[in-house]
Order: sequence, then C-alpha cells, then structure tokens
Amino acid sequence: MGYDRSVSAPEHVQSPETVWHLQMPQIRFGIDAVEEVAYQLRDLGVDEDAHGLLVTDETLVDVGHAGRVGDELDADGLSVDVFDGSAREPTVEDVEACIEFVRDEQGEAGYDFYLGLGGGSVMDTAKTTRAVIANGGEILDYVAEPTGEGEALTESGVPLVLLPTTAGTGAEISPVSILSVEEKEIKEGISSNHVRADAAVLDPTLTTTLPAEMTAKTAMDALGHAIEGYTTHRYDQLLRASDPASRPVYAGRTPVTEMFSEKAIALLSGNVRTAVNNGDDLEARANMLQGALFGAIAGLTAGASLCHAIAYPVGNRYHTYHGETIGVLTPASTLGYNAASDPPRFARIAEMLGADTDGMHTREAAKQGKAQYIALQRDLNVLPSGLAELAGITEEDLDWLATQTVETQARLLRCNPRPVEKEDVHAILADALHNWE
Ligand SMILES: [Fe+2]
Repeated sequence: MGYDRSVSAPEHVQSPETVWHLQMPQIRFGIDAVEEVAYQLRDLGVDEDAHGLLVTDETLVDVGHAGRVGDELDADGLSVDVFDGSAREPTVEDVEACIEFVRDEQGEAGYDFYLGLGGGSVMDTAKTTRAVIANGGEILDYVAEPTGEGEALTESGVPLVLLPTTAGTGAEISPVSILSVEEKEIKEGISSNHVRADAAVLDPTLTTTLPAEMTAKTAMDALGHAIEGYTTHRYDQLLRASDPASRPVYAGRTPVTEMFSEKAIALLSGNVRTAVNNGDDLEARANMLQGALFGAIAGLTAGASLCHAIAYPVGNRYHTYHGETIGVLTPASTLGYNAASDPPRFARIAEMLGADTDGMHTREAAKQGKAQYIALQRDLNVLPSGLAELAGITEEDLDWLATQTVETQARLLRCNPRPVEKEDVHAILADALHNWE
C-alpha cells in the first residue's frame, strides 16, 4: 500500500533529510607539498608582507619541520612568530596560553594568518585560537552548555592552513576542535564550520619522523573514522534540518563519504604494517596520509558514533592516547556490537580488511571484520591487547565508564546504527578488556 501524500503530516512531525552537502578546506597533497604553503596562503588572500603565527610543538621544532615551513614562508616574503607550547590532548588552559600569546604579541586583532603544524592536538590548538581571536571573548564562551556558554561562532577570521605530521586525526579538515576540561574529567568540542581550516597541506615527508608506536596508534584513529563513518546512519535516515544553517556537522553517511570510506579502509589496512615497520618508506607513508585524509572526509562528515563515544570517557579518565583507545575499543564496539545492524555492509568491511569470506553466509562473514582487525593490531606489535593493558582497567571500573558514556556522549550515541543502553556499553567494555591474550 502506498503512502497517501494527500494527508499532510501534523506540523510537529519532521520529515527525513533530503539534502547532503560536503564542505571541505582546500586540499593540497603530495611529496614536498609543504613547498606550496606560501602559494596556498596567497591564494587565500594573504597580503604581501603579512605576519602570521605558526602553532606547533617542541618536537617538531627539534626535528626541523617547523624550520622548513618557516624557510618556505621566508622565501616568499611572509614572516611568522612561532608558538611551540602546544600540549598533547590540550586542556582549556593549554589553548588559553596560545590565545594569550597572540594577544600579548598582536593585541585583540591577532595575526594576519595562522598555521598549525603537528598532530591533532596542535591543529586543534590552532583552530580554537583563530576562532576565539576572530570572535572575541574566551574559549568557554563557545563550548557547549553546561560546561561553557554555548554561544555560536559567527566569524571564521583570517586564513588558517593546517599541516598534519601524523596520518590519523583528520583535524586538518574537521569542523570540530577538541579540548579537555580537566576538573570535570571530560572532553568537549567546539563544533562549527567556522572552526574548520581554510586549507590543508598534506606532505608525507612531514610524517616520516613519527615513531612506530605513534604511527600505529594514529592509524587506528584513522581506520576508526573510516569504519565508523561507513556504518553510521545514512543522511536520509536523520531528520530534515529546519534550515541549512542548522544542519548538524555530523550529518550521516552519503554516497560520497561511502566512497571515501572504502578507499580509506583499503589504503590504511594495506599500508599500516609497512609504515610501522619501515617509517622511511615514503610510498607507505603517502598511502597512510592519503588513507587518513579519506577516512576523515568520510568519518568526520558522516559522524563518529559508538566507539568514539566510549573512547572519550576512557581517554579523559586514564589520559590514554586517543588513537590507541580507539584501537582497543573498535573490535568490541564498531566491529562487534554494531555488526548485527547491517550484516552485508560489515561483510564488505571484513573483505576490505583482508578477510577471506568466500562461501561464508553473510552473517558469518560480517563477524570476520572483528577477527581481522584484531589480527592486524597483533601484527603491529606495538599496541595494547585491551583495556586492561591500556590503562590497568578492571571489571570494577566499567560501571563508571558506561555511565559516563551514556550521560556525556548522547550526541555521538544518537548516530549509532544500533540503539545503545548503558548495559550494552558495559558489555562492550567487558569484551574490550582483553582483545587477545
Ligand atoms: Fe578520532
């Protein structure tokens, strides 16, 4: 029986979304792309003798990457001050230090442009700094209630270009900036299209200095984005935005994000072993950086879900690195609990991860993704075997973590393809204590 369109729905009943959109910074990718950073800034309208800020950290100054970027700018007549105090998994206070640096050096108006060179933490520090300088006030004005004031950003500000030195977070293209709020043991995001950078310059030669362990951990984050983005709700399974401006930044998977997810899963799972075991292999590094970019385009447009929702409370409580937390939780959550939501889709993931599912029933094939992913992690030889090894987490800690997940991560859990209650999160956490012996 067809749906009778002559009967109009009551006004309070919202209809499904019919529109998707893809918003990205300009993207420049490839070996020695860093040599085009000044061109990129000019293309964004930066004036002849402009003076900017390079946000980075001490390690990247020491290995020479910051100097390389500085030389490129210098050759083109651009100058930068360097803020190398970015912290790993930055707190509000850490990012405030960068904003204060800007106000001390340049006053309220700030610099002519901003660059972020580093991993996700550095790039997020640069994103938040530019946003607060452009919109005035303080960080907490723009963090969601009840932690902050929840004010909307209205300005993007002067050009911001990001140069990732890890193949993982996708912060170079994402519209979200993550901050830890220490006293509350939670992570908050400032989420707005005004946070997004104007351009990302991705150069694999900037990633070869990343140690094996960090290469593996950041890869797990990237793979998580690709797989979570591939399995979250489709955009037209979500409610229609009342106007384009109110459409959420995590707006569900689309034909475009699915394409990027598929390519990302293949690139990341096919190159991570080489990148970890031989960090100088530029081809593997390039494939990883490209895979992470594609994973981010997919996952950070479609939206992360269950695994990221559980990872935030774990990371806040135990100060574990984001990517390794995602690696520990993915088998039980995304590839375990969620596999029942769409067996054919999860069977495809298993194949993309390299499982031989020939002749298997779809439901059986769907389960192979979990085993294949765990085998990949074991091969890398630098990742923890579960929550127990990750941070000494035991059965007694799980209730607190499950409660925190459902109480603080509702935004992400809403995007999960399978409904999740606290007991489900508890069971997933228990499953993730030991992924292997
Ligand atoms: Fe992530």
